[in-house]
Order: sequence, then structure tokens, then C-alpha cells
Amino acid sequence: MSAEKILVTGGAGYIGSHACIELLEAGYDVIVIDNLSNSKPESLARVEKITGKSLCFVQADIRDKQALNDIFNQHEIYAVLHFAGLKAVGESCAQPIRYYQNNVYGTLVLTEMMQQFGIKKIIFSSSATVYGEPDSVKYTEDLPVFGATNPYGKSKAMVEDILKDLPIADDLSNYSNPWNIILLRYFNPIGAHKSGLIGEDPNGIPNNLVPYVSQVAVGKLDQLSVFGGDYPTIDGTGVRDYIHVVDLVKGHIQALQALNNSSGCRAYNLGAGKGYSVLEIVSAFERITGKTIKYKIVERRAGDIAENYADSSLALRELNWQTEKNLDDMVTDTWRWQSANPNGYK
Ligand code: NAD
Ligand code: UFG
Repeated sequence: MSAEKILVTGGAGYIGSHACIELLEAGYDVIVIDNLSNSKPESLARVEKITGKSLCFVQADIRDKQALNDIFNQHEIYAVLHFAGLKAVGESCAQPIRYYQNNVYGTLVLTEMMQQFGIKKIIFSSSATVYGEPDSVKYTEDLPVFGATNPYGKSKAMVEDILKDLPIADDLSNYSNPWNIILLRYFNPIGAHKSGLIGEDPNGIPNNLVPYVSQVAVGKLDQLSVFGGDYPTIDGTGVRDYIHVVDLVKGHIQALQALNNSSGCRAYNLGAGKGYSVLEIVSAFERITGKTIKYKIVERRAGDIAENYADSSLALRELNWQTEKNLDDMVTDTWRWQSANPNGYK
């Protein structure tokens, strides 16, 4: 029997490229569609180098129906891992139309074409941001998806809503090939593959904490601004649930296997279940890299919350998944990538 083929949208990006490695190593065939709006094809060359296997890369936009049509005609796709999307919170506030166009309309075109070809298994990259600002800091999947504070987060919640409607339509028309959808709500993915060959390569000045701190450690940036020192947390700085990107993508392999024997639409949190403060991250970097991370506590960043972390027990029960790596692994692997590739893939 030939290997199952998986279409990976956004496969050249940070998380998608790590997913390609896990997929190839698990024996799947991989077809990537990526418009390279936030990535370089070099990431995929390195995926092939790491795995010793080849994948099929199509440089195209998921909004391009003809490109999807060609892919679905040429390959019998078993399921889609849907990573393609724009993800910068600040940019989404400045360019909401572009974000909704790309993330929401892009998913509509993708699912419309999937339906046309009878491909009805999809795993979607959602985010803890869909929970907005709930009362509890420990997030369970039964919290309402409500109150995302920016167009990026709202685009994720909108796509979740759209995807939830697809199996309901199946029920009405009694299809024999039902939609089977898993929404994976990521907490804060960091780290890199242990080879140090692939990792996160943000454009310009990083928005997120760990890419920023690692660029301070490597000497590209002078000092970190810590956004807020007066939160009701362990040391006054923001607390987040950081998850190693390799653990995260392993959750997708488990989810793919769960798609085999189910239907409908289900959501799972993917997080480590433990929070670290900004200053705890800074001190882990100093300990592991041996570098001093200069920082200054400044005003809170608009839209930030004090603290969150995942309850990922549902993923353990139903997907048989849990994280294996700890904070030291995350920082060590981030540093191996950053120090060997100070300018990313350039
Ligand atoms: P990334 O920007 O590195 O990867 C996304 C990839 O999608 C890029 O290669 C980009 O070129 C491609 N892309 C974007 N729009 C496209 C389009 N219309 N057609 C084809 N390709 C397109 O981001 P990432 O960190 O790897 O994130 C992957 C997914 O996970 C995104 O959907 C993101 O919103 C989601 N997510 C990420 C995080 C995080 O902190 N990194 C957290 C929660 C959710
Ligand atoms: N932080 C700083 N200085 C910086 C950057 C961040 O102090 O230069 C702080 C933030 O205030 C926050 C923590 O570090 O307390 C983490 O911030 P990130 O920007 O790294 O991550 P966020 O939790 O704000 O958001 C990330 C992604 C979102 C995603 C969310 C999911 O950027 O897209 O995780 O929980 F939706």
C-alpha cells in the first residue's frame, strides 16, 4: 500500500516545516502549498536534508482555486494540515482586511475545493487567543470562544465557527463521507528542531518574546523591553504556557491518527500545562547561553493578559498526546538554531 498523502498549507513556515519533518519521519508523503509570504524555500530544503526524504512543494496561494484544483487532481490527498495564515497581532490591527482576506477567505477557498474533491479531513492551526480574556487562567476547551481582542484572534475564531458548521451540514444531507475536523489551539510555540537547521525566522524586529530574547543573546538586538512589571503574577511579569514546537507538531500526528476513526469537529488545547514569566524565560536564557540579557521593564503592551496556561488533559485522553520536552530543552534548541543561523535562512 502506498503512503498516505498529506497536504500541508503553510508548510515552509516555522511550525509547518517542523510538521513536515514529523510527517516524513512517520511515513507520510508530503505536499506543501505555500506562497512564501512569510517564509523561505530554504526551510524545505533543510527539511529534506534532515529527513533524507523528498517532498513536493507548490509555490502558490491557498486562495488560488486553480492551484488547489491542480494539486487535488494530481495527488490523492488523505488529509490537510492547515497552517497557512498571517499571524502578527499588531499588524492585524493595522491591516484587518488583509488578515480576514488571507485567513478567513483563504480557509473558505481551501475547504470549498476540498469538498469538491471529497477530501474532508482537516486539522486547523488555531490559538489560545480564541478564548479572549476568560476569568480562569487555566484554559479548558469548554470555555466559550469569545472576545478575541484583535483581528488576528478574531480570524481564528471565525474560521473555527465556519469549520464547526461543515459536519452539521453533513448530518442534514447524510453524506457517507463526512467532514472530520480537528481544531488545535496552540499556546506559545518556541524552540526548534534538535539539528539546529530549522527554526523560527521572523521578518524584521520580532514581536514575540523568545525570538526577541534570542536575538538579544546573539547580539543582534540591544535590550529586551519587558511589557509590564505590575501584573498579579509570580514576579509581576506576564506568564505564558510555552510549548516546544516539536511536541506541538507531534500533537498533529496524533490528531491525524484520531481522524481515522471519527467524524465531526473537535477542539484540543496543545500546551505544556505550566506557565513561565518573562523574567523566568530571561533567566533560563542567561543560564543556558552564558550571555547577559539586558532588559528594561516598560509599560504593559495593549491587549496583553496577565497569565494563561493550558489544561491539555483532553488531548492526553483522546489523542494520547502530552509534551515531552521542558523549558531547558526549548531554550537549548532555540539557541542552537539562533547561534548557528544569526540571520535566519538569509
Ligand atoms: P509562519 O508565518 O512561520 O507560517 C505560516 C506560513 O503560511 C508561511 O510560510 C506563509 O508564507 C504561509 N502563508 C500565509 N498565507 C498564505 C496563503 N494565503 N497561501 C499560502 N501560504 C500562506 O507561522 P507559524 O508560526 O508557523 O504559524 C503557523 C500557523 O499556526 C498559523 O496559522 C498561525 O496563526 C498558527 N499559530 C501560530 C502560533 C505561534 O505563536 N507561532 C500560535 C498560535 C497559532
Ligand atoms: N513580551 C515582552 N517583551 C517582548 C515581547 C513579549 O515582555 O518584546 C511579553 C508579553 O507581554 C507576554 C509574553 O512576553 O507577557 C509573551 O508574549 P508573546 O508576544 O511572545 O506571546 P503572546 O502570548 O502575546 O501571543 C502568542 C502569539 C499569538 C497567539 C498567542 C497564543 O503571538 O499569536 O501566543 O496564546 F495567539
